[in-house]
Amino acid sequence: MNTSIPGIRLAARTERLTGSVIDSSTALLASQTHDIVRFAMGAPNADLIPSADFARHFTASPEGMYDYGATEGLPELVKEVHEYLLREGVPSDPERLLITTGGMQGLDIAFKMLIDPGDAVIVEAPTYTNGIGTASSYQARIIEAPMDENGMIVEDLPDIVAAAGQTPKAIYTIPNFQNPSGTTLSESRRRMLLELAEQWDAVIIDDDPYGALRFEGKHVPGFAQLSPGNPRVIQVRTFSKVLAPGLRVGWLDLDPALRQLAINAKQAMDTCTNMPMQHVIAGYLREGSLDDHLAGLRTVYRERKIAMRHELSARFGDDVQTTDPEGGFFIWLTLKGRYAEVDTEELFPAALRHGVAYIPGPAFTHSGTFRHALRVCFATSTPERIAEGVERLGAALDEQAGLVSAGAGSQAGAK
Ligand SMILES: Cc1ncc(COP(=O)(O)O)c(C=O)c1O
Repeated sequence: MNTSIPGIRLAARTERLTGSVIDSSTALLASQTHDIVRFAMGAPNADLIPSADFARHFTASPEGMYDYGATEGLPELVKEVHEYLLREGVPSDPERLLITTGGMQGLDIAFKMLIDPGDAVIVEAPTYTNGIGTASSYQARIIEAPMDENGMIVEDLPDIVAAAGQTPKAIYTIPNFQNPSGTTLSESRRRMLLELAEQWDAVIIDDDPYGALRFEGKHVPGFAQLSPGNPRVIQVRTFSKVLAPGLRVGWLDLDPALRQLAINAKQAMDTCTNMPMQHVIAGYLREGSLDDHLAGLRTVYRERKIAMRHELSARFGDDVQTTDPEGGFFIWLTLKGRYAEVDTEELFPAALRHGVAYIPGPAFTHSGTFRHALRVCFATSTPERIAEGVERLGAALDEQAGLVSAGAGSQAGAK
């Protein structure tokens, strides 16, 4: 990336400030004037956000709501998060928790504490764009690990590390309903990863925004359950996917000694997380609303996942291979057969013209691979909208694959 700006001597690290295709799609979509089915952002739709409850807690305006707060987080919120973790059977302690500005700040703090320029970080391929982006911003050497239907192929890691000639300092994983593949790391691989981290003197950055959204299958114990109190595990969590992304509130759960360092890091960034939003969430959790809300989300997301897979199968048959997530937001599509040669970055403008948005596969890798794959989010749209969106995606794919002439059946400007 060329970051030279005449007259400004930039830091070397700006070479690695790559930006996020996912985040940029928010502005791109906001600027569109025609109707678009939104399969792009990993966000709950407005109808699933308890905004009336939030408004009530906001207007209650508790004392100190507009003050600076403790960097550790609002004590009432830390207490509520701790109680939630206990209900979920996750061993923790308030001394391990640090409230952050979303999951992204948790990732940033984790990489900031661990990575010097050139240090190796193992990431899943594909993985969350901003995870790679954050590691890269600290000039990490990114080492990609392949995945299958049980998540990262941990068995391959020793060979991959040997070939790279460098042991990793951090392993970045999204263990549940991974973004973007929707797959879940098996228990045996989690155990293996804990052993490898020990062997390599490395830290596991366990980024799990979707774990509470399991709507099918059996719970797989988390790293903190398999190895309670292990200082090699940094848990990055967020309310973005279970409450609302615009709140920008999440938390880190990490060894108390590391937490003090994380607090120092946060103090050099933003002093404390947004106080009104911490009060709103603390009030919401105190009322005991979260567990019922999560149960409702699981029902709706299961219905939407089934609808999405049904529509994809009906429209594309064997020309598209899909994953089958047991929770979370995402299905990963691999183009096959008649669509095998379609490049999903090149497809994107046609899809947008037809009125549907998704994220192209290469956005999820450091190496720019997965050109014939894409991510769709089923969480944002009703089953009716999902049907409409898949139909529009089909029209764009047919056009791009040369199966129909450009413009035939296009929805451009229709709505
Ligand atoms: C795997 C993963 N980690 C972290 C985040 C960022 O969370 P937040 O929006 O709370 O910063 C996301 C959001 O898409 C995500 O999918």
